[in-house]
Amino acid sequence: MNILYLSPGFPEEMKYFTHGFAHVGARVFGVGDTPRSALDPYVKKHLTDYHQIANWQDETAVIRDLHYWLAGKHIDRVVCLWEPVMILAAKLRESIGVPGLNVEQSIPFRDKVRMKEVLTRAGLRTPHNARCHSTKEAREAAERIGYPLIVKPVAGAGSADTYRADDAKSLEEALRKTQHVPEISVEEYIEGEEYTYDTVCSNGRILFENVSWYRPKPLTCRLNEWISPQSIALRDLEAADVRVGVELGRKVIAALGFQDGMTHMEWFRTPKGEAVFGEIGGRAPGGRIVHAMNYSCDADLFAGTAEAICHGRITQDLTKRHNCAIVFKRAIGNGRKVTRYDGLEALLRRYGKHMPVVDLTPIGEARRDFTKVVVGDGWIVARHPELAATLEMGDRIAAELRVIAEG
Ligand SMILES: Nc1ncnc2c1ncn2[C@@H]1O[C@H](COP(=O)(O)OP(=O)(O)OP(=O)(O)O)[C@@H](O)[C@H]1O
Ligand SMILES: [Mg+2]
Repeated sequence: MNILYLSPGFPEEMKYFTHGFAHVGARVFGVGDTPRSALDPYVKKHLTDYHQIANWQDETAVIRDLHYWLAGKHIDRVVCLWEPVMILAAKLRESIGVPGLNVEQSIPFRDKVRMKEVLTRAGLRTPHNARCHSTKEAREAAERIGYPLIVKPVAGAGSADTYRADDAKSLEEALRKTQHVPEISVEEYIEGEEYTYDTVCSNGRILFENVSWYRPKPLTCRLNEWISPQSIALRDLEAADVRVGVELGRKVIAALGFQDGMTHMEWFRTPKGEAVFGEIGGRAPGGRIVHAMNYSCDADLFAGTAEAICHGRITQDLTKRHNCAIVFKRAIGNGRKVTRYDGLEALLRRYGKHMPVVDLTPIGEARRDFTKVVVGDGWIVARHPELAATLEMGDRIAAELRVIAEG
């Protein structure tokens, strides 16, 4: 099977899928804006061929360029697991004539107002919301919906330009800060815990499900640098408080008619136990959640997804054996470079056998900007069959491991 794979080297997770496709016997034709000579050797190794495009923005030019490059090659699938180029991937499917989501089917995965319209029509609980192009429209929407509210971009990522407004004054503040955003969504603020519901699908059938629990909510993590964000891939999806989200997620997949590959949905569980839809991407989750799935099942969901797309099945054993915490660290101190780690040895002595990954910014290297690099100054995996033990490790790693940048 020949795969046209968009953006094989970026973001970081994409490269593991190139390995996955090669592993299940596909020939992978990569397309990206990185020069061939600058491709990660790991990516290069798994590609049959690669074509550099000038940029992603001019979609008409990319399509023309790729038709020229693909002349005489047969392509079976166009695969894209990176959010910003999903619509381009759909346009390519339409113009090459291969199965998979077309443009109309892809829009509800990109446009947060559209997605909620489709799902509300299907009878699912979504936050009340409105698309706004001006402060006047936003003020009117706020009147209608009531406080507290969320103000966020219609096509957003990484909680950027996202604000909570508790009253008219904080709404004005949020509108001022989002002036540069072309379209905003003003929506009802949903109280409660926030989770993911992620799937691997083939031909609309769900072959694998994951629920990760964000601790705390991504917006809180974005606004508070001192927090070490955690997500916990849960072992037991039958637990009552999790099951409501799984049921909601299955209905969302059906309502949107997703077909092949990975999905990443976010949902809230209100204090009353109701599951409320947040958003969905027709792509792999970021934030090392695919790694969490892998460590939870002792499996390779990068290859599993490739197998689902190419062969309509996943042959690996996907029994969930562990709860799996991913913890991100952010350096503290006033220095530019990481100078030491505090607390690491004690944690490794105590929990080391449950910590398969400890990957921190190396000592002597520049600290990273957590608003731009999702893992910040490092990521740690801690897993355990028992949820309570996993949460204890996650909390201790968050509180007791300190990446220091001094001097
Ligand atoms: N209606 C809402 N009620 C409560 N919190 C919300 C709401 N909408 C967004 N948030 C908070 O803001 C965060 C970012 O919003 P959202 O997930 O829609 O945007 P995003 O930037 O696309 O995220 P991602 O990084 O997952 O792509 C959410 O994870 C959640 O913590
Ligand atoms: Mg989100």
